[in-house]
Amino acid sequence: MITPVLLCGGSGTRLWPLSRKSYPKQFVPLVGETTLFQASAKRLSGAGFAAPLVLTNADFRFIVTEQLAAAGIDPGAILIEPEGRNTAPAVLAAALWLEKTDPEALMLVAPSDHVVPDAAAFRAAVEAGAVAARAGQLVTFGIKPTHAETGYGYLELAGDPEGFAAHPLALKRFVEKPDAARAAEMVAAGTYLWNAGIFLFSVQTILAAFRAHAPDLLAPVQAAVDQGRPDLGFLRLDPAAWGGAADISIDYAVMERADNLSVVPFAAGWSDLGGWDAVWRESGPDAAGVVTSGAATAIDCTDTLLRSESERLEVVGIGLENVIAVAMNDAVLVASMDRAQDVKKAVEALKARG
Ligand code: GDD
Ligand code: MG
Repeated sequence: MITPVLLCGGSGTRLWPLSRKSYPKQFVPLVGETTLFQASAKRLSGAGFAAPLVLTNADFRFIVTEQLAAAGIDPGAILIEPEGRNTAPAVLAAALWLEKTDPEALMLVAPSDHVVPDAAAFRAAVEAGAVAARAGQLVTFGIKPTHAETGYGYLELAGDPEGFAAHPLALKRFVEKPDAARAAEMVAAGTYLWNAGIFLFSVQTILAAFRAHAPDLLAPVQAAVDQGRPDLGFLRLDPAAWGGAADISIDYAVMERADNLSVVPFAAGWSDLGGWDAVWRESGPDAAGVVTSGAATAIDCTDTLLRSESERLEVVGIGLENVIAVAMNDAVLVASMDRAQDVKKAVEALKARG
């Protein structure tokens, strides 16, 4: 059985004003009716999958249970992190929890804020990866890069991606978040894929990798799990022990250092919805490139996203090109489409203003 390990601790500031610290993007219906979190949980349910193990923080725990129930998914276990320490401690806590409850499990670690439109293709990739994971590999999923993105990890293939067939290939190395020049070189080289941020490995393999590459995390995270307190059906990790774990991502702590890496190339659609431009693209723009949502009307617009999440505000665009407009009851964003990544600056500025 494969246990989905769903990470949902992030805050997604580039999708402000819809994504908030108190209600981040994975819990809002961004594209279509269901939320990204529900879609991730559903994609990884059914035959071959155990109930998910969810890692989140205290603020989101009831949102998690409500959304799983609404999607008809049995909530497995929910571990509550006293504070966000990034993905390495979270994945280690999941592995140590499973070591007690299901030590033979394969873990499919998945972010909860991605869109993967072709669930069947994704499952085929997971099945292919499971063979390598059972053989002791740390399995990643690789996307064909389209531009020199600096926010992703890059996977260097030992050979060519062999037509993107869903079977595991050996990986030479993992490079997390290169600078722009390095990213451009890697895209030009044609032997690198983007890391989708989804991982598949056995409990025993990832524990061995943590012991080898990030041994300092073991004692605090083990203590946080062992001394965790059951609370209303959740397991609250011990705050004092958890505070002793370094804040580091699994990409830096383990993947960049490991040599038992494989990748399953994944050709079907994938997006991490890292900004409003991605939401616009994934929402299926009409022939003029327009997407409207809620009480929004576009007249003679091109390549524009107009969205009202407010029952009070009507959004109307006339003759706009390359514009993003998102209205909430308490905030309105109007931005140029090609500045979508700068929305996080707005959030920083607002935070600084208090
Ligand atoms: N539970 C929990 N606790 N979840 C967390 C925490 C935490 O402390 N920190 C992050 N997450 C969740 C986020 O909500 C997200 O779903 C996932 O873990 C990945 O974290 P990000 O912070 O979004 O990582 P990233 O986007 O910078 O980079 C990762 O994803 C890229 C693809 O989207 C890396 O794996 C890259 O290599 C990869 O290319
Ligand atoms: Mg991300």
